[in-house]
Amino acid sequence: MCAKPISVADSGRWVRVCRIEALAGREIIPVFVAGRHLVLVQDGDGIFATDRACPHEGADLALGHCSGGRLFCPRHLAWFALANGAVSPGWNFPDLRTYPTRREGGDIQVLIEARG
Ligand code: FES
Repeated sequence: MCAKPISVADSGRWVRVCRIEALAGREIIPVFVAGRHLVLVQDGDGIFATDRACPHEGADLALGHCSGGRLFCPRHLAWFALANGAVSPGWNFPDLRTYPTRREGGDIQVLIEARG
């Protein structure tokens, strides 16, 4: 089961998404940031942001799981490297889009590029 996404309406470069505590005990949370559906993924000490929809057939990656720096799609179990979105070997579809994150005070921020 997936919780309602945290919604952030403002846009810009570094966008505040949520408090760090929102990830407590949770591996993946869906967020809506500057008009984009993303997931925040906590893997060890790292916090990563990616598109929420799998680039294969659009499965909801908020329902996947992460392990060892990889985000696994719940539908066909392809995985993506959290560091750069690279898809696992043997699949022929685009990499997953990733977004830089940072901690600022007690917040998590995501770098959103302006749409051209
Ligand atoms: S929909 Fe994600 S691997 Fe197929």
